[in-house]
Amino acid sequence: MTPKKIAVIVGSLRKESFNRKMAKALVALAPESIKLEIVEIGGLPLYNQDLDDKPPTAWAEFRERLKSFDGVLFVTPEYNRSVPGALKNAIDVGSRPYGKSVWDGKPGAVISVSPGAVGGFGANHHLRQSLVTLNVPTMAQPEAYIGNAANLFDKSGDIADDSSREFATKFVHTFATWVEINSPSKK
Ligand SMILES: Cc1cc2nc3c(=O)[nH]c(=O)nc-3n(C[C@H](O)[C@H](O)[C@H](O)COP(=O)(O)O)c2cc1C
Repeated sequence: MTPKKIAVIVGSLRKESFNRKMAKALVALAPESIKLEIVEIGGLPLYNQDLDDKPPTAWAEFRERLKSFDGVLFVTPEYNRSVPGALKNAIDVGSRPYGKSVWDGKPGAVISVSPGAVGGFGANHHLRQSLVTLNVPTMAQPEAYIGNAANLFDKSGDIADDSSREFATKFVHTFATWVEINSPSKK
């Protein structure tokens, strides 16, 4: 069976990002039925509706690339109880021109990672609000608000403890089933 292609969007642009480390861990832990690939968002110019008729190359490339994926996984920090601007910008860029959103119908999931105790709950749920209007069927369970991220990874960037690794494995395997059930061809 050809694996379903999943775009992984990391909300942080920081080099040593905990969220990027989590994204890389999920890439490695995914079952064979899905193939996760990180799609970079840091080079996207800010969305401006005036440019819809003559989109910047980076927007066009991002939209074209996203079209080739069967699902989308967001791994995001929380900035001021919401998602970072870079992530919101990528969502907006992908959603236009009107009627041609690259997100439409793609099964999705959200995991938030924070050094704080609340695990980015606010960002996770703000993001879900956008995903409703974008028609991304988003996995509800298991909820993934990963706190205390400063202790989560070892020196090589891998998840350091067994229970967190088991949770990440369960999350990405459940997502694979979610993608299978919610793929447009199956509905
Ligand atoms: C502008 C800004 C706002 C932040 N707001 C929050 C917040 O609301 N909640 C939270 O848990 N952490 C907040 N943080 C701390 C981030 O969770 C922390 O910097 C984290 O490491 C960012 O994720 P990353 O490691 O993937 O880059 C904020 C950080 C920045 C730079």
